Amino acid sequence: MLELIDVAKSYESCGGAEKLAVLKGVNFNVGTGQSAAVVGPSGSGKSTLLNIMGALDYPTSGTVLFEGQDLAGLGEDELARIRNKDIGFVFQLHHLLPQCTVMENVLIPTLADKQAYSSQEAAKRAAELLERVGLKEWSKHRPGELSGGQRQRVAVVRALINRPKLLLADEPTGSLDEAAARNIFELLIELNHTEEVSLVVVTHSVKLAGRLERIFSLDNGVLVDGKKD
Ligand SMILES: Nc1ncnc2c1ncn2[C@@H]1O[C@H](COP(=O)(O)OP(=O)(O)OP(=O)(O)O)[C@@H](O)[C@H]1O
Ligand SMILES: [Mg+2]
Repeated sequence: MLELIDVAKSYESCGGAEKLAVLKGVNFNVGTGQSAAVVGPSGSGKSTLLNIMGALDYPTSGTVLFEGQDLAGLGEDELARIRNKDIGFVFQLHHLLPQCTVMENVLIPTLADKQAYSSQEAAKRAAELLERVGLKEWSKHRPGELSGGQRQRVAVVRALINRPKLLLADEPTGSLDEAAARNIFELLIELNHTEEVSLVVVTHSVKLAGRLERIFSLDNGVLVDGKKD
């Protein structure tokens, strides 16, 4: 489903004299419906890696294959379609629009491609997903009225509204207490199974990471497969 082959990423330093090599030859793959966690210290390049997986950023060298297609060979329109339709993102901070209701926030990704979905179908799926995450009663409320954990649930629903094939989450529980964090993780795992969406989660918590099928750790620019027994 998603494969990274010898992916490297470096940033120009301030002034451009030196390069900061963040990723130095990362190999990774996740199959349809599989789940994987990426752990590693702060600054090790986890977000950089996830952004490359989600076509939000480009590698300096190496190949990213999404369903066998080389992302480097795609035009901006095709990339935009993949980002919107095939990949769902959840970030550490929910990035919900404060002036929109929960329902409106969830429907935003469906607005870009009106042909994929009728607005009725989209609203039906949104209502079903909101019910599944326990937020049925909250659809007309605004994000400011919700707890941190509830907001993150809305962000998860929004990420799944277009039935993506891949769900990428960057520290989705980073701003939550332990119980709410566990809750969001359980939800991601449940949706990984029921929606058959591949799941990659970046997390600081090795304990939570252990709940996913595979764990990788990012160490000195290289991704190490921490095989589980
Ligand atoms: N746009 C950028 N330009 C220059 N350097 C960058 C850029 N983005 C990230 N970096 C550098 O790349 C390194 C990795 O950053 P990244 O955000 O990927 O780490 P991370 O593992 O996600 O960290 P954290 O756990 O704190 O979120 C850091 O040294 C960071 O300063
Ligand atoms: Mg990060």
